[in-house]
Amino acid sequence: VHIGEGLLTNLGPITSSALKRQARKAYIVADARVPSASLIAAADSLKSVGISVRSCAVKPSEQEKTFAGLERILVELARARIDRDDVVIALGGGIVGDMAGFAAAILRRGVQVVQCPTTLLSMVDASVGGKTGVNLNTGEGPTVELKKNLIGAFHQPRVVVADVHVLTSLPDRALRCGLAECIKHGLLTANDPDLLGWIERNITLIISKDRGALCELVARNVAVKAAIVSDDELEEAPDGAGGRALLNLGHTFGHAIETLPGLLLSSSLSSGSVSGATSIEHGEAVALGTIAAAHCSHALGRCSTELRDRVTSLIRSAGLPTAIAGLPSDEVLIERMSHDKKVRGGTLRLILPVDRSTTASSPGAVVISNPPIQAVTAGLAAIRL
Ligand SMILES: NC(=O)c1ccc[n+]([C@@H]2O[C@H](COP(=O)([O-])OP(=O)(O)OC[C@H]3O[C@@H](n4cnc5c(N)ncnc54)[C@H](O)[C@@H]3O)[C@@H](O)[C@H]2O)c1
Repeated sequence: VHIGEGLLTNLGPITSSALKRQARKAYIVADARVPSASLIAAADSLKSVGISVRSCAVKPSEQEKTFAGLERILVELARARIDRDDVVIALGGGIVGDMAGFAAAILRRGVQVVQCPTTLLSMVDASVGGKTGVNLNTGEGPTVELKKNLIGAFHQPRVVVADVHVLTSLPDRALRCGLAECIKHGLLTANDPDLLGWIERNITLIISKDRGALCELVARNVAVKAAIVSDDELEEAPDGAGGRALLNLGHTFGHAIETLPGLLLSSSLSSGSVSGATSIEHGEAVALGTIAAAHCSHALGRCSTELRDRVTSLIRSAGLPTAIAGLPSDEVLIERMSHDKKVRGGTLRLILPVDRSTTASSPGAVVISNPPIQAVTAGLAAIRL
């Protein structure tokens, strides 16, 4: 994983030295909202090392991240005659990374892929670890019922190139969404016990997109994720052992909320939107899910009031939602949570933050729990507005 400023201008040499087989052609699947200067910089650099370049633009949305959107990308790759010696470049946020990565995984049973994440979330999370995939629409007739990331494959990128310069154009709301995953990493404390404290101390610099702070934030988060992923690459660790499943902290609650049709966030938190209230983003759902998990853990007596409130307060100072109006009943939400892929053997299996130490430098750790329904509803109550 290369992290720095202006790295896309060096994408050609970085890609060439990382590929197993030398590519003649590169196909850039580009996020339509990434400024064209970044796409041109990436393409020029690839051409400078003798790789020809074609590209297509994807307008990312969870509805586009389905078989229909995937097929459009595969058709473009096939028309460009991308073969196993060539390389697919994903230049975009997590949606483009997941779709282009999955397209590369299944085209000709596996084409090399390079991830160039352009959102904070994709830099610190989605581009690292090799998970790729799309949502499945299981709705009947005109009803859309998206099952998030139900279809996918592990397909490791040959290299990840995180150029923090591209974050300049990232809307503030998307930056805050990435921070939700960083706060989650801070709670995991895998190999960086001070990460949560560092984020707390640097939150203003991070939100103002200070380049130094962003580089350090990305590097420390990638290290946390990489350490967990390299121990359990295919998420096969047995129940209770944790492994990669620990990264799902906040996600079982979050996925149940994120896919709810018609749920809106108030305009004060969705600044940047044109018309007041907007639908909820993945990172916002993860933020709510992390708060729900902390409250659920508190109800079980595993998480102190101090840690629970610290999580909520950091999420608030990152400009993320701490509660939301219009959630359906507990029964509906728990039913949705039980559809989540973290369910094993029919029981709801949650990753919950717990106190490991009372010192500020080591705020927490996590456990895998099958909590009683009362604890789950305590978590849900905390995020109801
Ligand atoms: N594979 C994994 O391990 C993994 C991990 C976490 C999340 N994900 C997936 O990632 C997705 C969320 O990713 P995301 O938060 O990056 O969202 P996203 O891909 O939707 O990007 C957010 C928005 O920012 C725009 N954008 C991207 N880069 C930009 C830039 N530099 N300047 C201006 N606009 C830019 C996009 O067009 C989009 O509108 C979800 O689908 C989630 O399931 C995957």
